[in-house]
Amino acid sequence: MKRLLCIGGGNVNGLGQYLFNKAEHQYQVLRISKSDFFSDCFESEVIRFQPDYVLITSASSYKVDLPNIDYQGVDKAFQSRLLPLYKIGALLDRLSVDSVVVISGAASNFIINTYCALSLVNTATEVAVRYLAQEFMGRTRFNYVSPWRVGANGADPEKICVDDVYSAITFLFTNQSINGTGILIDRGFSMNVK
Ligand SMILES: NC(=O)c1ccc[n+]([C@@H]2O[C@H](COP(=O)([O-])OP(=O)(O)OC[C@H]3O[C@@H](n4cnc5c(N)ncnc54)[C@H](OP(=O)(O)O)[C@@H]3O)[C@@H](O)[C@H]2O)c1
Repeated sequence: MKRLLCIGGGNVNGLGQYLFNKAEHQYQVLRISKSDFFSDCFESEVIRFQPDYVLITSASSYKVDLPNIDYQGVDKAFQSRLLPLYKIGALLDRLSVDSVVVISGAASNFIINTYCALSLVNTATEVAVRYLAQEFMGRTRFNYVSPWRVGANGADPEKICVDDVYSAITFLFTNQSINGTGILIDRGFSMNVK
């Protein structure tokens, strides 16, 4: 059974936790919560586990209208997504990871007032993925999945179903030729917003 390291997924009913629950049926999974991530044991735990794949779903839900946006909130939002990505990159000399997938979001394609910080973080995530993919080319692939709002399967026709997000992730884990790019999962919604 392949080993999957999941970073994030601490929020009950959050997308990260849905994905973690699904992944447990298919992989041997080690989940890293926020406190695990910032603990002294993070590096040793990850090295002991020796993951084949890494899934990063960590985030900070920072939603404020543009005039009220503040540095601390934006900083926290960037750290929650980008630190795990770079920290995994820094450990790759001691790991043999085939594929890293990070959850970004369709809001990387447009800016909505309240989701301004999220748009910035998503864009930065996708740039970081391209950078890391180049840096580790031939050793570890880096890709992202960018969903629009996700809901429990079939519950809301306006939302993207979790299974569609999950299948895109597993596709990126196993497809050996896809590197430094991502899959937008939004039923074409972004085309109308741009
Ligand atoms: N849900 C959707 O509809 C949707 C749509 C598109 C994209 N996304 C993206 O999908 C990802 C997962 O969504 P979600 O709903 O699970 O997000 P979420 O509810 O905001 O949960 C994110 C979790 O990550 C944790 N976290 C923050 N920094 C961390 C770190 N350094 N290491 C480990 N965990 C950390 C947070 O802990 P604290 O709460 O303690 O800070 C929280 O438990 C997010 O990036 C989100 O932006 C979600």
